[in-house]
Amino acid sequence: MDKVTITAAKGLVLLLLLATGHAISCPPCSCEPLEELWGWAVNCSSMGLKEVPPLFPNIRILQMQNNSLTTVLPGALDGLTNVKEMDFSNNPWHCDCSILYLKRWMEDISQASLDKVICATPAALKTRSLSQIHGSELDGCRKPLRIKCLDFMLRDLFLICAAIITLIFALCILLCSGLSCLSV
Ligand SMILES: *[C@@H]1O[C@H](CO)[C@@H](O)[C@H](O)[C@H]1NC(C)=O
Ligand SMILES: *[C@@H]1O[C@H](CO)[C@@H](O)[C@H](O)[C@H]1NC(C)=O
Repeated sequence: MDKVTITAAKGLVLLLLLATGHAISCPPCSCEPLEELWGWAVNCSSMGLKEVPPLFPNIRILQMQNNSLTTVLPGALDGLTNVKEMDFSNNPWHCDCSILYLKRWMEDISQASLDKVICATPAALKTRSLSQIHGSELDGCRKPLRIKCLDFMLRDLFLICAAIITLIFALCILLCSGLSCLSV
């Protein structure tokens, strides 16, 4: 197969994917089939994007730089298992606990790309690279844990109370039958 045929075949596959209504949005991004690899280069850079648009699997190169992204919703990149190269730099990232999703996703693929993800807010983390920030420094990462802990304690307390009440009942029944108060 010559290059033109391969490119045409890839274009057809994309059209089919689009036709099946699978969450795909090339526009406003540009999608180019890669010549040698079976996959796509998706360029979403400099689009003024505030959110990561729905993306399709089999993307190998993903460019998201120079947008207005502040966070990535958990799960938004889950389907993208073939990404080898990416750029999420030059966005006003808000580094709170929810940014951990992006950090973990990128860490597995490219540490160098993660180095270029710089926090814009909050002020305490401004200009810090996401690669050097630990979960404990991020707002909102600890609080839910405490609530969970409290929930856990309340549940334990409830279970202990239930056990004690059951025990008292059992004792009462035992005592009652011993004193034959049930046959009175
Ligand atoms: C990606 O898109 C931007 C904006 O349209 C453009 O300036 C840039 O050259 C493109 N990059 C590549 C590698 O095609
Ligand atoms: C960043 O994107 C804006 C449009 O959102 C564009 O005007 C600007 O030239 C871009 N800068 C770079 C360095 O690509």
